Amino acid sequence: MAPQPKNIILGISAGIAAYKMYDLVSDFKKLGHNVHVVLTQDGKHFVSELPLKVLSSNPVHCEMFSHEIQAKPIHIELADLADIILISPATADIIAKMACGICDELITNILLATKAQVYIAPAMNTNMWKHFTTQKNIETLVTKLGYKIIPPEEGALACGYSGIGHIASNEKILKTLFVDETINKPLAGKKIIITAGGTKEAIDPVRYIGNKSSGKMGLAIADAAHNMGADVILVSTVSRDRNYQVIEVESAQEMQEVIESEFDKCDGLIMAAAVSDFRPITASKQKIKKKNEDITIELTRNPDILEILGRTKREKQIIIGFSAESENIEKNAREKLEKKKIDMIIANDISVPEIGFESDENEVIILTRDGQREVLQRRPKAQIAQHICNKLVEIFQKTIKEAKKI
Ligand code: CTP
Repeated sequence: MAPQPKNIILGISAGIAAYKMYDLVSDFKKLGHNVHVVLTQDGKHFVSELPLKVLSSNPVHCEMFSHEIQAKPIHIELADLADIILISPATADIIAKMACGICDELITNILLATKAQVYIAPAMNTNMWKHFTTQKNIETLVTKLGYKIIPPEEGALACGYSGIGHIASNEKILKTLFVDETINKPLAGKKIIITAGGTKEAIDPVRYIGNKSSGKMGLAIADAAHNMGADVILVSTVSRDRNYQVIEVESAQEMQEVIESEFDKCDGLIMAAAVSDFRPITASKQKIKKKNEDITIELTRNPDILEILGRTKREKQIIIGFSAESENIEKNAREKLEKKKIDMIIANDISVPEIGFESDENEVIILTRDGQREVLQRRPKAQIAQHICNKLVEIFQKTIKEAKKI
């Protein structure tokens, strides 16, 4: 089905991939959309105004200030006109400006003034893309401003590097912008609890037993599920500001209490948290003072939240767990899948320092109750999160089909 005609503002910044925008503008026009191109000052080095004007059948905008009398300043006119704003290619510089709200030229002003959905197609050198600051800025754009990222791909880059940084294909950009909302939001109507972080088991008011989990994987899953339309409850030991419900907890028992009180109303649970298996039998009310002898802290077992819920869940509720292992990764994960009676398990090898705890990347094996096995080679946690949510959608769909057969 052809998409509804839209007013699209295409912001082109200073990247070599800018030349591909000639084709993209032409594609937008063929699909019946009204395109206004806004070029950054440096973007002008990479593409020419005249072909963009001819291809879009609209003026190309570069300047913030005009001497002509206008009902509205141009940045407000374009911000209000837009149904969609696409920044493509998006350089590290414009991404940083967007994350900070800097308004130093026309497109950055439009971005601050608009209420339209903003899409970003980054393209840059691999190291610039992987840089902490760029990743932090991307996180801000996604989680705080609701921007949608069309991730760069692996490939040979114009700078001579080979790696992530190549702009997504025009086909991918078009698909992201125009696929049916219901395809974009396949988790709409689903309420899902996602846990993140490592639990802290109090020894006294100052000390606790904890673990190395940073919460990044759980957060990435919660963000992905939210973007796919789910009503997310993030139960987390790490404090995070999000535009969905976040319940902060510390200990395994607190986490269990929250999950048990919410799960009945939910369609799914993804336990990405590293839950401590043990806690001190008693937590001292006062700080334990040091003496000259050694001390022994007696530990007791914590409830296995996943196992309890796996055994008591309703048939249509889907539960996904994680398995952190340093040896016999797959075998142990398979045993947990069976024992805890869950629908899917994601196994990761915590003995490899570049993946897992604290890292922005992970490498996992996914095993499902119905016998599927998939290996996801090392990649950003956001991509693994997206894949896990896609699998969750598949499981929900399968459950609906099976229920219809009965
Ligand atoms: N889990 C849980 N409650 C616990 C321990 C773990 O809900 N008390 C969940 C975790 O969130 C994870 C899964 O169970 O989704 C597996 O956790 P993991 O630490 O890998 O394994 P355990 O079951 O704790 O077993 P072991 O520590 O012996 O590997």
